[in-house]
Amino acid sequence: MNPVAQELYQRIRREGAIDGQVIKVDRFLNHMVDPVLMDKLGAELYGRFAERKIDKIITAESSGIMIAQAIAGHFGVPFIYAKKKRPLTMREYYAASSYSFTKQESTTLYVSQEVLGTRERLLFVDDFFAAGSTYKAIEQIIEQAGATLVGVAVIINKSDRRDIESILTMHDLASG
Ligand code: G4P
Repeated sequence: MNPVAQELYQRIRREGAIDGQVIKVDRFLNHMVDPVLMDKLGAELYGRFAERKIDKIITAESSGIMIAQAIAGHFGVPFIYAKKKRPLTMREYYAASSYSFTKQESTTLYVSQEVLGTRERLLFVDDFFAAGSTYKAIEQIIEQAGATLVGVAVIINKSDRRDIESILTMHDLASG
């Protein structure tokens, strides 16, 4: 495990919890947020894609926003967060729905056509990758826009997919 992964692992052990498949991180990642830790996680994930041409980072509200900002800051590019409610001012938009197994509900994600252009190269970022439903919805939105998804970076990858860059996987959490 690299030093950043080790630090996150220790924080989960000391301040969070692992309850079966559910990882509790709300004292430092997704409810109360440690900005210093978030920046370290962002720098590490940025490093995995630093050589790639990335025009924008994309995530979904709400817990993806902090890591998206941290990564985008290192690239020096904007980040977009897909909204779960469409503001009346958003007249032309891309939309896709995602079903959350964790929350047992369907949500539609919206991105204004004003912020996502054809031919843009995007990195999808999130706190967790679980069933991949948020990812699939974002993939559809990127396709609707005619843009390109360059890769996926998450803090914790709970799936078996190996094409996703992450700080920790369930395997890391199980083995320590
Ligand atoms: P998926 O997007 O990969 O399909 O995942 P899933 O539907 O299972 O989970 C959806 C929501 O649950 C996401 O938040 C995700 O961040 C959160 N989540 C998934 N696994 C864990 C976990 O182990 N611990 C914690 N704390 N959260 C988890 P969301 O619905 O997009 O909403 P928000 O919380 O970001 O606002």
